[in-house]
Amino acid sequence: MKIAFFSAKTYDKDFFNRHNQPYGFELQFWETHLGPHIVNAIDEDTDVVCAFVNDRLTAEVIAVLASKKVKVIAMRCAGFNNVDLEAAKTHNIRVCRVPAYSPEAVAEHAIAMLLTLNRKTHKAYNRVREQNFSLNGLLGFNLHGKTIGVIGTGKIGKAFCKIMLGFGCVVVAHDPFEDKELIIMGVRYLPLKALFSTSDVVSLHCPLTTENKYLINKDTVATMKPGVTIINTSRGQLLHTDDVITALKSGYVTYLGIDVYEQEEKLFFKDLSGSIIEDDKIQRLMSFPNVLVTGHQAFFTEDALSQIATITLNSINELVNGLEVSDPSVILA
Ligand code: NAI
Repeated sequence: MKIAFFSAKTYDKDFFNRHNQPYGFELQFWETHLGPHIVNAIDEDTDVVCAFVNDRLTAEVIAVLASKKVKVIAMRCAGFNNVDLEAAKTHNIRVCRVPAYSPEAVAEHAIAMLLTLNRKTHKAYNRVREQNFSLNGLLGFNLHGKTIGVIGTGKIGKAFCKIMLGFGCVVVAHDPFEDKELIIMGVRYLPLKALFSTSDVVSLHCPLTTENKYLINKDTVATMKPGVTIINTSRGQLLHTDDVITALKSGYVTYLGIDVYEQEEKLFFKDLSGSIIEDDKIQRLMSFPNVLVTGHQAFFTEDALSQIATITLNSINELVNGLEVSDPSVILA
């Protein structure tokens, strides 16, 4: 049984090879994205295509996969906006994904961003290596006692709330579905406006929808506490980049940590160190001393990659061999 992986990085090879041992599938790794430009090159004996967030599984691509008798498309991620599910159903190709993997990985990264921005450990690291032990410019604040506003208390937001409670923070939250366990633990649900006006830190953990696009914009920022810190590990378009740049320039927003960015598909997951980046917004953001940008790495832990590989290979095994699917939430088509 042959699986062709697209957008494969070294770590994909490592983790999938490691977790493939019980199955013994033939794994073929392609570094290129999957799209119309390459789909015809797929070997005729390929049973499964395993794809990632920036691969393009359009109707055209899926028709070619069907002509090559591909049986399963396995997304090794949660999102599936890049897969034409109707086309897959039409061609009788099954589609699966990894709906959840280690929410703590993302929650912990959000906290790493918050602590780095606040306590400036990235600056101290470089400074001390140059034998500069001055503390000027490294002043931070205690998280203990501060109010943290959490937007979205699903799997990741809930893990984030629990860690923040452990820090001794006051945790307020906004979500259409209140989590009873969090309320018992001391989290207070508030309308969005009240959350914005009381929070020292606002952290985004909701999905991007048509309703909440640019949730953080000049009008909502104006309702936040002056000096607010904003952390976004969810999706780039939750935050209006130009509006936040204006608020950073005026000093209204004190710190910004982003693991996601509106135009990230042109930048993230690539080594562009020898290139000229034409995107002026990301360049402006990276020029601020109080902004931390990471390249969609919040999920990137040993634990999460192991879970992604295990769940993906298990789903492929069940679908290709006609076994009962142990977790129906992995199935998209
Ligand atoms: P989840 O589905 O478990 O929870 C999402 C929560 O957000 C739900 O409780 C939902 O009711 C709530 N929600 C929906 N719309 C909302 C709104 N407008 N305002 C407030 N709450 C709202 O999802 P999970 O697993 O916690 O993931 C959250 C997001 O994290 C994902 O949608 C994704 O965008 C992002 N993510 C980022 C990763 C990274 O590496 N940076 C990796 C994985 C996910």
